[in-house]
Amino acid sequence: MVGTLGAMASTEPTLFDQVVNLCKRRSFVFPSAEIYGGFRSTYDYGPLGVLMLRNVKDAWWRSMVQLRSDVVGLDAAILSPPKVWEASGHLDNFSDPLVDCTSCKTRHRQDQLEDADTCPSCGESGTFTEARAFNLMFKSQAGPVEGAGADVYLRPETAQGTFINFKNILETSRKKPPFGIAQIGKSFRNEITPGNFVFRTREFEQMELEFFVPPAEADSWYEYWMNERYQWYLNLGIPADQLRLRAHDDDELSHYSSGTSDIEFLFPWGWGELEGIANRGDFDLTQHAQHSGQKLEYFDQGTGERYVPHCIEPAAGATRSMMAFLMAAYDEEQVNDDTRTVLRLHPQLAPYKVAVLPLSKKDTLLPKAEEVLHSLQPHFMCDYDITQAIGKRYRRQDEIGTPYCVTIDFDTLEDNAVTVRERDSMEQQRIPVDNLVAYLNEQLAL
Ligand code: GAP
Repeated sequence: MVGTLGAMASTEPTLFDQVVNLCKRRSFVFPSAEIYGGFRSTYDYGPLGVLMLRNVKDAWWRSMVQLRSDVVGLDAAILSPPKVWEASGHLDNFSDPLVDCTSCKTRHRQDQLEDADTCPSCGESGTFTEARAFNLMFKSQAGPVEGAGADVYLRPETAQGTFINFKNILETSRKKPPFGIAQIGKSFRNEITPGNFVFRTREFEQMELEFFVPPAEADSWYEYWMNERYQWYLNLGIPADQLRLRAHDDDELSHYSSGTSDIEFLFPWGWGELEGIANRGDFDLTQHAQHSGQKLEYFDQGTGERYVPHCIEPAAGATRSMMAFLMAAYDEEQVNDDTRTVLRLHPQLAPYKVAVLPLSKKDTLLPKAEEVLHSLQPHFMCDYDITQAIGKRYRRQDEIGTPYCVTIDFDTLEDNAVTVRERDSMEQQRIPVDNLVAYLNEQLAL
């Protein structure tokens, strides 16, 4: 039984509270600059969070790059000159409509107000100023002299770094449409209403694929990527009843898109976007070609055809997906007189795959336990825990989602076998140390 969803009138902690508490308590995610009172909307990923976030990104990279022959990778710069953002349309279009309440001096996003005329902070009506567009990009200056440097922007998406490298990659990678360029990295948006933990932050990580196709194939590739990406979340353990694909209405479409569908997760406060799959047409390559004066097109030597490829873009949030995976995996169950908290994470996402636990701290067991640990470490991310009763240590591993615990006991010294306990069923098996790596590899199927 997990906690209640959302903010119901109850003293029971909500699922949201339970996951946020677990993240802090077990070093997944800490509020940033906490010793200075915190810095709103930025978070630091602790020892377990950094492992899990890396696993989310690795799972994406594996499915989008490693297992395909039509996608290559890229890691473009975070800082870029205004020209890039003029061409992309972000300087003109990437903004939210803001209103100020003249009574209580609070600022709100007009499109998120429940009642367009009433201030949600003070309850006054008719006190809003005219809406003003507020650009979400962070701007800075490059150069040693304050005020005299060139303007630069922190990228609000990784995608533009990909479009401006299209020519480089086409000329050097021997790829031809349909082919894609995948990128994972930090993006920055000066969000007006950050919140819901790491759901909406000002600094976050994206996993974006720009897939370039012959124009006539754009619709079928759009369908293809919607299905592929939806399946990816299911394969990694998000239950089907907490996941949906939702097509954007025309008035929701971004300036570049002729069709977008979101993959949404049922968060405690309602459905929220994990990923957008957009049919960007030839908008980006055409814009950058016009602004840079470079030809960004493909010449098919076979057919003699020259065209600007269309782009299908599956754009996901790594940090936001990690939060969804945590929420979907969180469970509490009654075991005898005890409540067990267990993160039923897919093994690929679990921070540690295996925990090595000597039954006691006695000197006689520790050398063998360390020997087993060292034999596993080259193969799996392992935890090693020697303190407190074995039952408590099992619970500690359940709570962070470790799929297997390996216990070294006094019999191990005689029979060279260990007890392997599985997280979800709590079933235990005796396995010879010599077969342990093969056994765990088979069970984890990473
Ligand atoms: N290149 C297209 C693009 O950036 P987006 O829908 O604005 O599209 C893609 O962003 C994904 O990035 C979102 O689905 C979400 O998962 C993540 N994302 C966007 N803004 C975010 C924020 N402020 N905090 C955390 N994740 C965010």
